Parts: sequence; structure tokens; C-alpha cells
Amino acid sequence: MAKQRILSGIQPTGELHLGNYLGALRNWVEMQKDYESFLFMADLHAITVSHDPAVLAENTYKTAAIYLACGLTAEQDSTIFVQSHIPAHSELGWLLTCVTPLNWLQDMVQFKEKAVRQGENVGAGLLCYPALQAADILLYDPDKVPVGEDQKQHLELTRDIAVRINHQFGTSETPVLKMPEPMIRKEGARVMSLSDGTRKMSKSDPSELSRINLLDPPDLIKKKIKKCKTDPVRGLEFDNPDRPECNNLLTLYMLLSSQTKETVAQDCADMGWGQFKPLLTDTIVEALKPIQERYAEITQDKTILESVLRDGNEKAAAIANQTLSRVKQSMGYSRPL
Ligand code: TYM
Repeated sequence: MAKQRILSGIQPTGELHLGNYLGALRNWVEMQKDYESFLFMADLHAITVSHDPAVLAENTYKTAAIYLACGLTAEQDSTIFVQSHIPAHSELGWLLTCVTPLNWLQDMVQFKEKAVRQGENVGAGLLCYPALQAADILLYDPDKVPVGEDQKQHLELTRDIAVRINHQFGTSETPVLKMPEPMIRKEGARVMSLSDGTRKMSKSDPSELSRINLLDPPDLIKKKIKKCKTDPVRGLEFDNPDRPECNNLLTLYMLLSSQTKETVAQDCADMGWGQFKPLLTDTIVEALKPIQERYAEITQDKTILESVLRDGNEKAAAIANQTLSRVKQSMGYSRPL
């Protein structure tokens, strides 16, 4: 039986952090042997907030190097590519934007949050980008889309857009687009900020101390954990709504040390923060060490990344172009003469 297909992406804006790793990347690495995987750097999304042209390409390649350093590999059927290298993304994005009702886009929580932060300066791309994200997904006919919790609403929108296209331009026997399923793991789907356990860890948080980046050196990790927000209660526990920081830090420890929730709950029940913080620091440093070592190797030899991205682009573009033709044909476009 043919393998099922997954597709997902990360915006190459700033450094990738533990939220991106535990909510997305780590799961992709685990899944790649069982799925045909299409994984990309969403660089067209990266300009929906103001960006610096001098670092856009560099951040995109850095993100690709992190994908490889985390263990994604073509040998296990992972196809890695840059979104902007495949024009079909922008083109299907436009076609889908035109069939998407404005109020669907205005209802997106991420739009509302980011638009408020940017005030008058907000670009129309920030509003329209979920339709581009729908194009990213639907171009590859994936079965599943593995993401963190914050992307759930965008995936529901993607499905609504697919239903609309199929209804308007397809028939029940021959739908134009395949319906993808979101895949959101329970554990790690929402890693919280180190400065406030009620907000998610995010690349756009102005405070560096709020997140641990995958390339942070051990000293910096130690400093960030030392300064992270805790509470004055003795003994550590999961799932107490009055102790969001405690739940977040214990969850990080559990996931990065690959222990069960029961074991961690038992072992940490009588611990104070003074005992737990060094343990958490060591666990994070150890978990990130192999990724950082591989990253250093990969970035030393440019040809490794170049060849992965060249092959990825070729394989992804072939599939994307086929889907784009199918959609354009269903919408009534002629082929070039
Ligand atoms: P982005 O770049 O914000 O995040 C990339 C992935 O990391 C997950 N994530 C988290 N998971 C757990 N805890 C957190 N604190 C945390 N922060 C981020 C996200 O859920 C995501 O899986 N619009 C997308 C990129 C994108 C995309 C796509 C994703 C563009 N096209 C098509 C899937 C399919 C974004 O901005 O993700």
C-alpha cells in the first residue's frame, strides 16, 4: 500500500525555538519513516510582517539546515524545499484568496492578535496569508498536516476553502482538491513562554528570555532557565491551572527527557525550584547538543544543503504544478497556446 503523505512548514523569521521543535519538527522527524513527507520553509509568509531583505535568504537556509540537523533526510522520504522557489504557491494562493469570503479571514485569531500589535501599519498580506497557507497545503494533496495547536484554526479554514472549491468547481465524483486532516499531538502542541506561562512561546516575543532557541549555547540556556518565571509554591505538579509556569516547565522536562508523565510527576512532587532548574537546564542542553553539533557540520559544507534543496524543489514542483493545472482547468482557465 502507498504511504500516506504529510505536509508542513515553518516561517523562517528569527530563530527556531523549543515550541517549533516540540510542536512540529520533532514530530516530523518521528513520522518521516512512515509517511512521504513534504516539508518547507514558508518564506513567502515571512514578509507578512516587516522584514529585512538582507537576512531573509540567510534565515531561510538556516531554517533548512536546522531541519536537517534535527534529523529530516531524503533517505527517509522527506522532501525539503523553499516555498518561494515554487511559483505555484503564489498562484494557487491568489486563486484561493478570490474564493475566500473576507469575514473568514477577518475571524482568524492570529490576524486579530498581530494586527492589533501592528496598528495602522498592518499589511493586507497579514489578512490574506491563511489563503496562501491553504494553497501551500492543498497543492500537495496531503493526508495529514502535523502542526502545533496555534495552527488549528488555519487548518480548519483550509478545509473550508477546499470544500468551497470542490462545491463551486468540482463534482461529488471528481473533487478538485483533497481534504487534509490536521494532526496535532497532545503533548508539546502548545509550549508556553518562559516569562509568562499563559502565553505561547513565540518568535515574535520581543523578550529573548521568553524562549529557548534550538541554537542557544549551554550558558545562555542556563541563564534563561535561571531567570524564567516560577511561583513560590513548594513541590511541582502538572495540570494545576493556577500554576501554568510549573506545568509548562515540567512538560518541557518530560518531553525532552523522554520520560512518562507519571514518572516525572512522582519524581518532582517534592522538589523545589532550586533542585529542579539545574535538572531542566541539563536536560535541555543534552537534548539540543546533537542538533547543534549536526548543524555545525551541515553549515560547514554548503553543497549538502544545496543538493537537498535542489532535489526537494524538483520533486515538490512536479506535484504542485499538477495540482495547480487541475485547479485552473476546473476554474475555466485556458492552457497557453
Ligand atoms: P510558525 O512558523 O509560526 O510555526 C511553525 C510550527 O511550529 C509550531 N509552533 C508551536 N508549537 C508548540 N508550541 C509553540 N509555542 C509553538 N510555536 C509554533 C506551529 O504550530 C507550527 O506547526 N503559518 C505557519 C507556517 C505555514 C504552514 C503552512 C504550516 C505556512 N504554510 C502549511 C503548515 C502547513 C506558521 O506561521 O508557523
